[in-house]
Amino acid sequence: EKGGWSSFMAKEISEQPAAIANTLIGRISDGAVKLPELDALGPDILTDITRVVFLGCGTAAYAAMLGQYAIEKWAHIPVTVELSHEFRYRDPVIDNRTLVVSISQSGETMDTLMAVKYAKELGARTLSICNTQGSTIPRESDAVLYTHAGPEVAVASTKAFVAQIAAIYLFGLHLASVRGELDAAAVAGLTAELAALPAQLETVIEQKDSISQLAGWMVDTRSVIFLGRHAGYPIALEGALKLKELAYIHAEGFAAGELKHGPIALIEPGQPVFVVVPSPRGENSLHPKVISNIQEIRARGARILAIAEEGDVSVLPFADTVIRIPLASTLFEPVLAVAPLQIFAMELAAAKGLDVDQPRNLAKSVTVE
Ligand code: F6R
Repeated sequence: EKGGWSSFMAKEISEQPAAIANTLIGRISDGAVKLPELDALGPDILTDITRVVFLGCGTAAYAAMLGQYAIEKWAHIPVTVELSHEFRYRDPVIDNRTLVVSISQSGETMDTLMAVKYAKELGARTLSICNTQGSTIPRESDAVLYTHAGPEVAVASTKAFVAQIAAIYLFGLHLASVRGELDAAAVAGLTAELAALPAQLETVIEQKDSISQLAGWMVDTRSVIFLGRHAGYPIALEGALKLKELAYIHAEGFAAGELKHGPIALIEPGQPVFVVVPSPRGENSLHPKVISNIQEIRARGARILAIAEEGDVSVLPFADTVIRIPLASTLFEPVLAVAPLQIFAMELAAAKGLDVDQPRNLAKSVTVE
């Protein structure tokens, strides 16, 4: 039950460090990843496949986007992300050397279930990453890697999302090792970063009260924009989705590089824009590009809410508010950056007097197509 929490969502946000830790438990040993459940795929499948296709809807699809970035980097194998409900209605090119990885908290999402069945008909191997033991999608799949977030009651997904990222990263590291793309030392370094996430995320969640204050002055806001690049992009999409579903506010997430291709026309004085700022230490040198995006929209009157790493002072002259996250490398930052956006959406919904756990028109699992 809710315990002392005001909502299941508040409780589940606080449970995110444990959701990650429990998903990692028993699966990292001496710096290596151990996933015996993948044996059910059959011998040599992970070395034989030529590509990976992720399937999911909503938040699960955003976790899959991070999986795409991670697996292409670590395992050097082509990865695509498909919305389950689109996948089946075109003619996707799939064969028996394709591994289809479905992501689903409930394991009952009809769109994803039907997409998995379709992929099987086309000869694909199927892996399910799922939070619900014994649910339908894992039963339809060759193998299952469970997330251990515990039951998620609030309609809006929070702890299941971070657990999905942890499980997908474990899978990606395992795939990269068995394919000889990452050596033991590299895997050990990355598993140590994964294992550090729960404690780091705890420190982000501790800033809950200052994020609640932001929500307080935004109750009359009609539109919020979220920007991110690379690993920050799925987080911008997730921040926007949370705000739509909980606070019923129009919200859009954009890849920051796309701004000048159209969305910058939306910027007018007072427009709130959350920006997920990549680390200035990041290997992909996106930091200066995102800072210049911030300057461009700030010059047009945008109100900037930056999520930036501790010690990054470059945002200070341009941001109206800075929310700090601990130092992490590029692919791990999103796990830390998402929490302030979840808290913001929840607090704004609560400030508007809305039911945070049961938003209108939505069900926890979507068992119809
Ligand atoms: C968003 C949300 C939905 C689900 C989506 C997939 O907060 O909860 O977007 O993520 O309906 O659900 P599962 O993961 O159960 O397949």
